[in-house]
Order: sequence, then C-alpha cells, then structure tokens
Amino acid sequence: MPIEQKDKEVILTLPSDESTSVKVLLHGANILSWTIAGKEQLWLSEGAVLDGSKAVRGGVPLVFPVFGKASSGPTSTLPQHGFARLSTWEFLGQVSASPLTVQFGLGPENVSEAFRKAWDFDFTLIYTIALGADTLETAVRVENTSKVNWDFQILFHTYFRIPDVDKVELNGLTGVSVKDKVSKSDYSESNTTVTVTSETDRVYENVDNDVLVASAGKPLFHIYRKNVADVVVWNPWVNASKNMGDFRPEDGYKSMICVEAGSVSKRTTLSPGETWECSEKIKSLL
Ligand code: BG6
Repeated sequence: MPIEQKDKEVILTLPSDESTSVKVLLHGANILSWTIAGKEQLWLSEGAVLDGSKAVRGGVPLVFPVFGKASSGPTSTLPQHGFARLSTWEFLGQVSASPLTVQFGLGPENVSEAFRKAWDFDFTLIYTIALGADTLETAVRVENTSKVNWDFQILFHTYFRIPDVDKVELNGLTGVSVKDKVSKSDYSESNTTVTVTSETDRVYENVDNDVLVASAGKPLFHIYRKNVADVVVWNPWVNASKNMGDFRPEDGYKSMICVEAGSVSKRTTLSPGETWECSEKIKSLL
C-alpha cells in the first residue's frame, strides 16, 4: 500500500521498493523517518516525545511563524520556533502517484486556544511531501486568510543522520554572511568547506549555492532550495545535548547535523488573500 494512514501518522512507501519510505507524524506534520533501500537518512532522538505534548526532537520539524524566540512584535508571545510543530495537522490525502505525494493542512481550527490568543491571525498552511527513489521534497504554501497583514518566518528543521560529526563537511557556504549564535558575532564564511568541531548554531543568510553535505569527502546529501534563502547549521555538541532532556543518547550529537533551509533572516509579510510558497528537495547520495 503506497499510503498508509494510521491514527497518528501517515506512511508513504514506494511501490517499486518497499524499503524506501517516509513516516510523518500528524503532530507537527513532523517527518520522523526517511529510508532509502532500508537505510535511515534522518536522525531521530531516542528520547523524542511523540505523544503531542512537545515538539519532536529529530526528523524534520517545521518551524512557523517564528524562528527562535521573537523579542518584539505579534510572534513574541509564541514559544520558540512557533506553533506549527506543536499542532496536530490534518491529513489531506494523496495528490500524486509519481512521485508519491501527499498533503497536510493547518489552519486556526487546528491550533490551541492559547496559540490563537498569542497570534490571532487567520492563515492556511498546505504542506506537501513527495517521496522519490532517492529524494525527499517538502513544500509549503502559506496563505493569509485574515483581513489584515501579518508576517512570518519559516524553516525546514532537518536533522540529517551522518556517520560521524567529526568528518562532516558542508559545501556551498563560502563567502556567505553568518550570524553566529554561539560566538555572538557576525562574519563572512571564509572556509571553502565548513566543518563542525564544537557547539555550532549559525544562520547563513541568503545562500546562493546549493548546499552539499559530505562525510570525509564522500557526498551524502545535496540540498536544493526554492524561496528559502537562508541555511541554519546546528549541532548542540556535548553540553547543550546533555541539557536537553529529550536528546538521547547524550552523545547522539555525533551522528547528527541540522542543516535547515528557511526564510528567517527577514520576515515575509502577506497581505489579505496573498499566498507564498517555498520548497526544499533533498537528494540522498548515500
Ligand atoms: C535551531 C536554532 O534551529 O534549533 C537553535 O538555531 C536551537 O538555536 C535549535 O537551539 C533547537 O531548537 P529547539 O527549540 O528544537 O530545542
């Protein structure tokens, strides 16, 4: 069965290869797993909470309408990374057989009273997930169904599973402006290949090139983006991992890297009736 709808999750399986699949939790429309020929591509914490009581630690959480915590404006009353990853989405069904494609929807009716009160605007989000033989494509259509303008940030918070963080290499970021949240400084990326040797939390702004994730020279993932100009690179390393109750095992940071495509360096404003779309396509080279 290419699409299996369960109580709390939806599973897409390629008819041509039953060990190539994607599992999506309705809570957050969080992608939990992406396997190609049985090989897991994403990192999901062993301590991830999947019962809807908090955001999922791993897979692909969707960040909307705020990235991080806003210090002012209408999103400042929302929790870190917004409510999309904390709300239960509706499964809208299959929209294509090739590539195997499904959609999920989120509107004010799916969001808690508390979030509604905090961010009281009408909106529709349509989240499209397409599984290919070696690709995973995610796209979001944002519509302002309010009578007033509002603005947002959005991000695919992808946790990639990697063999060894000490060997990870990111290409495509040279010369890009960085906002570094660990060193609390701004600079231009001078490295041709970015490596990770300590806690890393950076926003690469307006990245023109595709980003390539490799391990000791071996390509792992090619990331193509449309309308998501920024790339966040995050690895909590030793101490921050320990401080997150749902990050397990504690040394799990060694086998993950978040490379997150988003539109976060600016806020996008939508007027009533206006729509906006973005997408990310990840090609696995494993
Ligand atoms: C990243 C942020 O996108 O997400 C980090 O840049 C943050 O600052 C990380 O720590 C994880 O966030 P959370 O809310 O899932 O713990």
